[in-house]
Amino acid sequence: MDRSVHSLLKENNFMMRLEDVLSEDKIPATEVERQYYFIDVAKQILEDKEKEAGRKLTFCVNTFGCQMNARDSEKLIGILEQVGYVQADSEDADFVLYNTCTVRENANNKVYGHLGYLHNKKKKNPHMMIALCGCMMQEEHVVETIRKKYRFVDLVFGTHNIYKFAELLVRSLLSESMIVDIWKDTDQIVEDLPIERKYSFKSGVNIMFGCNNFCSYCIVPYVRGRERSRKPIDIIREIEKLVADGVVEVMLLGQNVNSYGKNLDEPVTFAQLLEQVEQIEGLERIRFMTSHPKDLSDELIEVLGKSKKVCKHLHLPLQSGSSKILQKMNRHYTKEDYLTLVDKIRAAVPDMAITTDIIVGFPGETEEDFLETLDVVEKVRYDSAFTFIYSKRTGTPAASMDDQIPSDVVKDRFDRLLSRVQAISAEKAKVYEGKTVDVLVEEINQHDASLMTGRMSNNSTVHFPGEADLIGQILPIKLVECKGFYYIGERV
Ligand code: SAH
Ligand code: SF4
Ligand code: F3S
Repeated sequence: MDRSVHSLLKENNFMMRLEDVLSEDKIPATEVERQYYFIDVAKQILEDKEKEAGRKLTFCVNTFGCQMNARDSEKLIGILEQVGYVQADSEDADFVLYNTCTVRENANNKVYGHLGYLHNKKKKNPHMMIALCGCMMQEEHVVETIRKKYRFVDLVFGTHNIYKFAELLVRSLLSESMIVDIWKDTDQIVEDLPIERKYSFKSGVNIMFGCNNFCSYCIVPYVRGRERSRKPIDIIREIEKLVADGVVEVMLLGQNVNSYGKNLDEPVTFAQLLEQVEQIEGLERIRFMTSHPKDLSDELIEVLGKSKKVCKHLHLPLQSGSSKILQKMNRHYTKEDYLTLVDKIRAAVPDMAITTDIIVGFPGETEEDFLETLDVVEKVRYDSAFTFIYSKRTGTPAASMDDQIPSDVVKDRFDRLLSRVQAISAEKAKVYEGKTVDVLVEEINQHDASLMTGRMSNNSTVHFPGEADLIGQILPIKLVECKGFYYIGERV
């Protein structure tokens, strides 16, 4: 133990207890028990801190990035709540944790921007602690910057040791200096830690972690490590528990769910996993994210065709419509492969909504390449599409490619793409006007409290007059008016 920890402990009379709690023969051997043990320790420390403050201490977790991060944050919140922190509505909290994303440059800039603001809050609140975790922390230059310029941060950890959060929290609560713990990789998957779900009726479920694809523009494989699948039995058990607890919809999460199970001791395909999940009684809807086109099998298409529970929504990232650019992106499919795949899916499931991700301005993208992308957009007619301006990520192969595209050219292409994507989405959405569809009621409308907001199977949003007690139910709703990318409906 370092000196500063010692002196702090003495000051707070923690001395005896800590020597005690940190003795190796007291710490349980299995990882999950070890973390529960540290949750208990943190609880005791927090109680003392609360006495000192004369009030309950609060926390706020701010999540950036994708569904994986959102799910991770639920795990972090689960632990903070077990420890005894009370959730605050804003960053005016005693423990503020940022779960960061680094997929594009602007995600990083947001975090640095927020940190300055947090520093001011910390100057006014002696109990305040600031912690950072997530993908951005897996980048060396980021951690260096934080050590140099943001020395008021208390705890920094990464994506691979997130299951150690309780233990790291104890170390941080007892230390005066910044604790930094970043691992290069892990093969561990720790099951059964506490989780606090954001929604009572739906939940993300990790089926795999990491990514092996190394698309040349993408930082994710570097910050999330190699692909690791959870065992089907663990996934099924988790979903059964969720269903028993009121969940009707699950979203199976992985960077490339189509390669699920390949590295398990007893390999299982994603299609087989879906069939098992389908059997779970009481579960009504199954979603999944994300499908890499290169690994989407005929077996999966068949399961999608048969399934009663898998939602009519497939997110199938295109990235580019130019076969030349796709090759430079290391995506392992051509424009033609992609279009053939879409035809096959539509033949099997005609009402499947297809959405996508597209990157504009990848190095070497010519006007002709861009027109190929527009051509795919016209042919597939996506229900919706996320469009991104290429962002150079240090350490990825694309970052050092020649021929980076000037920003005015990219901006022009981006605007042209967006206007086509939006026009097509609106045309596609219009088709449902007047129809009655099943809607899972999710929340009170954020702008008008007399309305409820829910989701169709195809992932479209519907607002309709209703009461909060409908949340979590699947109801038939008539889509009275299409407003472009959402609907106004009424109960039937
Ligand atoms: N695993 C998922 C995507 C995860 S990242 C998949 O393969 O589909 C989400 C999206 O961010 C990607 O689909 C891509 O369109 C976009 N993206 C990733 N890296 C990017 C970069 N460097 N610049 C711009 N967009 C990027
Ligand atoms: Fe990134 Fe490609 Fe992996 Fe998706 S599949 S996370 S885009 S490397
Ligand atoms: Fe971002 Fe990490 Fe997800 S980089 S997109 S939060 S996997």
